[in-house]
Amino acid sequence: MLIDTYGRVATDLRVSLTDRCNLRCTYCMPEEGLQWLAKPDLLTDDEIVRLIGIAVTRLGITEVRFTGGEPLLRPGLVSIVERCAALAPRPRMSLTTNGIGLRRTAAALKAAGLDRVNVSLDTLRPDVFKTLTRRDRHHDVLAGLEAAREAGLTPVKVNTVLMPGLNDDEAPELLAWAVEHGYELRFIEQMPLDAQHGWKRDGMITAGDILRSLRTRFTLTEEGTGERGSAPAERWLVDGGPHRVGVIASVTRPFCRACDRTRLTADGQVRTCLFAREETDLRGALRSDAPDEEIARIWTLAMWGKKAGSGLDDPSFLQPDRPMSAIGG
Ligand code: GTP
Ligand code: 5AD
Ligand code: SF4
Repeated sequence: MLIDTYGRVATDLRVSLTDRCNLRCTYCMPEEGLQWLAKPDLLTDDEIVRLIGIAVTRLGITEVRFTGGEPLLRPGLVSIVERCAALAPRPRMSLTTNGIGLRRTAAALKAAGLDRVNVSLDTLRPDVFKTLTRRDRHHDVLAGLEAAREAGLTPVKVNTVLMPGLNDDEAPELLAWAVEHGYELRFIEQMPLDAQHGWKRDGMITAGDILRSLRTRFTLTEEGTGERGSAPAERWLVDGGPHRVGVIASVTRPFCRACDRTRLTADGQVRTCLFAREETDLRGALRSDAPDEEIARIWTLAMWGKKAGSGLDDPSFLQPDRPMSAIGG
């Protein structure tokens, strides 16, 4: 079991498969891209499957999410999913993607055993998409979303980051669109994880702003008892339901007390938190032929170092060295 000193148990593993991406979202990375990890430093497909196997069979992981960069750029993805689906107990598996490659891969991913996808889309306007991502691929994302739904990778969730002056007027329009197409929309507060270190709390669109904007057009009722469990999104029923909208308010309403996550970077480092400043190397152990038991022990010990929270509210907060694109969100 992966338990930390605050008694939280990690059952959800996020695995970054690559730090590369085929978009250049302005809030994530510069136009020229970043210094990508070198191929020999990346875990191989076999190493990834072995680590997920250890996590599932020895450490109590029940949910596996593949992330990036853009995970559909990883050539071995379908086969990784297929091999993980054969593990016992079989983990639930999902993918967080920019959606561009989904039209091509959704059916194969479903057949391999992937359960569902979350797709990032910040705007319904092709011109804003191009400004924001520096690529003219809006149409591909919309087609990818449809392919995912048709393949049964459901519920299909859409992740949206709102930025002032760019797309912050689009919240109601996005929700109407998501309801019409049967996608579950979640708005994400922007976090200080950009490669350029340009994040400012002042300019950020908050959960409060988003809810105010949505309520100009919809009636939102908070779901459940106010207990949010371990999911980062708080959810509201739209106009009485059944459709829902979520807000992931990492900055203004942090959920770290209920955190159930552990992370693996594409180069085989365990991160106990999105904002962790330390990492624990598993690749070295893998490549020096450590047995599963030893790797499980290193991972377990790493989780003992998990901090209480993100530290975002500490005056001494420092962004982690790795940007979001190399952690996997
Ligand atoms: P679901 O299981 O579908 O709810 O997935 P998810 O929302 O956890 O995953 P996804 O990859 O879609 O992430 C959505 C947003 O939540 C991204 O901006 C992530 O960076 C953020 N996020 C995911 N996990 C954490 C976390 O543990 N802490 C914080 N602060 N943000 C997180
Ligand atoms: N803050 C919040 N969300 C972010 N994402 C990327 N960078 C940030 C950030 N700095 C989002 C992406 C994607 C998800 C994985 O995280 O838009 O939807
Ligand atoms: Fe978990 Fe860290 Fe995210 Fe908080 S910020 S929810 S502790 S990963």
